[in-house]
Amino acid sequence: MTSEQQEVFEPPDEIVDKAWISDWQAAEAAAASDPVSYWAERAGELEWSKPWDKVLDDRKAPFFKWFTGAKTNIVTNAVDRHLKSARRNKLALIWVSEDNSKVRTFSYFSLNREVEQMANILKAMGVEKGDVVTIYLPRIPEIFFAMLACAKIGAIHSVVFAGYSAEALGTRIDDSESKVVITADGSWVNGKVFALKDIVDEAVKFSPTVENVIVVANTGTEVAMDTIRDHWYHELTRLPIAKGHCETVQVDAEDPLFILYTSGSTGKPKAILHTHGGYQVGTYTTLRYSFDIKPEDRWWCTADPGWVTGHSYLVYGPLLNGATVFMAEGSPTYPYPDINWQLIEYYGITGFYTAPTAIRTLMRFGDAWVTKHDLSSLRLLGSVGEPINPEAWRWFHRVVGQGHCPIIDTWWQTETGMFQITTVPAMPQKPGSAGRPVFGQQAAILDEAGNEVPDGTEGFLVLKNPWPAMMRTLFKDPDRYISTYWSKYPGLYLTGDAAKRDADGYIWVIGRTDDVIKVSGHRLGTAEVESALVSHPGVVEAAAIGLPHEIKGNAIHASVILANGQQPSRELEEELRTHVAETLSPIAKPDTFDFPEKLPKTRSGKIMRRVLRARALGQDEGDLSTLESD
Ligand code: PRX
Repeated sequence: MTSEQQEVFEPPDEIVDKAWISDWQAAEAAAASDPVSYWAERAGELEWSKPWDKVLDDRKAPFFKWFTGAKTNIVTNAVDRHLKSARRNKLALIWVSEDNSKVRTFSYFSLNREVEQMANILKAMGVEKGDVVTIYLPRIPEIFFAMLACAKIGAIHSVVFAGYSAEALGTRIDDSESKVVITADGSWVNGKVFALKDIVDEAVKFSPTVENVIVVANTGTEVAMDTIRDHWYHELTRLPIAKGHCETVQVDAEDPLFILYTSGSTGKPKAILHTHGGYQVGTYTTLRYSFDIKPEDRWWCTADPGWVTGHSYLVYGPLLNGATVFMAEGSPTYPYPDINWQLIEYYGITGFYTAPTAIRTLMRFGDAWVTKHDLSSLRLLGSVGEPINPEAWRWFHRVVGQGHCPIIDTWWQTETGMFQITTVPAMPQKPGSAGRPVFGQQAAILDEAGNEVPDGTEGFLVLKNPWPAMMRTLFKDPDRYISTYWSKYPGLYLTGDAAKRDADGYIWVIGRTDDVIKVSGHRLGTAEVESALVSHPGVVEAAAIGLPHEIKGNAIHASVILANGQQPSRELEEELRTHVAETLSPIAKPDTFDFPEKLPKTRSGKIMRRVLRARALGQDEGDLSTLESD
């Protein structure tokens, strides 16, 4: 074991004494002895209009079902139940614009009014239970209203990160057969307007299903409006159809709540499907225990609702716990490198949950930007999306957490819906290890043949137990659900990550084992990047790989075979970057390129990424015996 793995931070007594879980060993052991009862007890803390017949139905595993027979709605628990007590007047959401000049706040009472209004409008547009609504909005309060309004009426939301291109958005709209798209005129990105509505126009040009587009006025930019299809949201809210109470539809626990597209090892993104009942229990419980969330907390998760972290721990998890959510529209360094610390100080943020990339970026600016602020309101810090390097962990702990805020590293995935490997604040933390499987879960690290590897040895990370917030299937693609996650080791959930376990049972996640790259915590498939590159007329073939990057964790390196007559140049590299940004997303832009004569392939035609990686890093190319020859 390395010295890093022996570095242990014990949580302060004042945190442990007040936490929901102080005796974590007892809680872990109790849940391990009977995970199904553990989850039934947690579910009992929420409201169900009809109780379940069965907690876990595994008859058709791996198509697991949870809380079958029960009726509920995540909005009943995230909003409605808070209206019955004094909590109705408590702040549910504080929002700050990118330049910190505008603030909007909503109590649970007024959040409900907003959600009812949006839900009434969707209903008037003919959206019914089971219909999919695509949401392509920036980090503004309307994204909360839109997601909750869909859930309230039993519609399925499909949030697409408002940084994806028209092509990527159009594919997701068509695949989900959305009738309605909710967007904004634009979003603010580092002081400039990103023209969202133009992208939507392009995306829905040939859509066979989209009947209505709702446009929120956010940037005040002039946009083209189709007189039949497009509607300003503020104009809709003035109509009689928007007014009045809207009942929260009681749905089956297993009815779909949302789909969320994520990258896999092929070019076609996967639509991960989550349901009302299990997802609410999973996100409610894990946020409560890992971040010790209480109604008096002011919780800031910096993720965008376009990703799963935003779904589970910006929107649903904190509202299910009756906390106050803080959301900022901007990036962590705009307009100043201390904007985050200024906001934490002013709003009295108690829990701050962000990504290693952001931590590394902010660390670069030096301690003084942080220490000039009074961050004494902070109780807990969190990290998500990629492994956090111990150096960034220690800086976050020492400078931002002033040496006394536990850092909760959380390993999970779009597919898992909720944390799977993490700590609760009372557990000792080890910088660089995400922690232990959540209560009720067990993980294993396997070799190729499916045997558990000894402690300290790298292997494939699998999860052994079903959990309530697990994806139920891939929307419209159940075969791919089985083949991707449940076939390598039947009965075990394949995460796609490599990891090691230490002698204390802590898990050290190393990274992906498949063709997925995490760039600044964003998940990208190599095939998506490659198909964006080859759609450029100057490119014949392309291979994308991830290379280690100090700030982003991984950066994309592209090996490109050029068409006849094309010459490698800096200008061409820039043109290819712009092309990828426009056809996929700016987050997918390759950092570096090389232009070989041909790509290394096996005799069966598979690109040997291992060889490309070695070449790009100037390392030994290893065994080339399977390389195809001329
Ligand atoms: O490789 C793991 C990495 O992110 C992947 C899941 O990506 P996504 O579905 O976009 O969800 C990200 C947010 C939950 C995982 O397979 N990952 C996520 N969190 C961590 C992590 N790797 C190491 N440590 C983490 N805390």
